[in-house]
Amino acid sequence: LIAFFAPKPLAGRKVLITAGPTFEAIDPVRGITNLSSGKMGFAVARAAREAGAEVTLVAGPVHLSTPRGVQRVNVQSAQQMLAAVMALAPASSVFVATAAVADWRPATQAGEKIKKDGSGQTPVLTFVENPDILATVAQLPEAQSGALYCVGFAAESHDLLAHATAKRLRKKIPLLVGNIGPATFGQDDNALLLVDENGHRELPLASKRSLAQGLVAEIAARLPARRA
Ligand code: CTP
Ligand code: CA
Repeated sequence: LIAFFAPKPLAGRKVLITAGPTFEAIDPVRGITNLSSGKMGFAVARAAREAGAEVTLVAGPVHLSTPRGVQRVNVQSAQQMLAAVMALAPASSVFVATAAVADWRPATQAGEKIKKDGSGQTPVLTFVENPDILATVAQLPEAQSGALYCVGFAAESHDLLAHATAKRLRKKIPLLVGNIGPATFGQDDNALLLVDENGHRELPLASKRSLAQGLVAEIAARLPARRA
């Protein structure tokens, strides 16, 4: 009952989250993607909703059910994810980028299924770099002014603190969250390293659900106070 009547830390705030992998088409039946499960982003969406926020989840192709009360926008490619995010980011208070966006996409997409030609020759794919969604959002005037609080994620194989610190500065975001531990993709347990302008702290090994709740509390505590 006390919890029910307690003011929710994100009441009245709009939270925008990206989650899952992206899928970059090669032709109508093929593409490249990665093994992101989307679980962390979906857990953050659920926790933010439970903290009282109005939550929109922009999700790449994942097989997860939408958390109760969360608005979901399904996308495939990084370019579609960018477009969906940019339509919503200026009106949001928080942007959390958990998506494992494909860094590159095939330079061209075949309009029809690429066929073997019988000669044994293999197709050669060339790639172009995808837009950096988080860095693009971080450059919005709303983000620069502090009205939109941007949070990035990083999965690094080594030197997590150094890479996370560098990535936070490179993307010009106030908070970068590192996944601690090997091969967190698809796992239910995880630990997080939070890096901000004041240094770093760890959210120790726990379920993605409780880590997401901890992260949402940390984000809420960093938001500027609302005008009455
Ligand atoms: N990100 C993004 N758009 C991209 C690439 C990354 O929004 N095109 C976001 C991710 O959602 C994550 C953060 O940026 O929050 C860091 O992603 P990561 O892949 O670790 O960083 P990159 O800048 O892509 O660098 P690299 O993969 O080379 O380490
Ligand atoms: Ca990347």
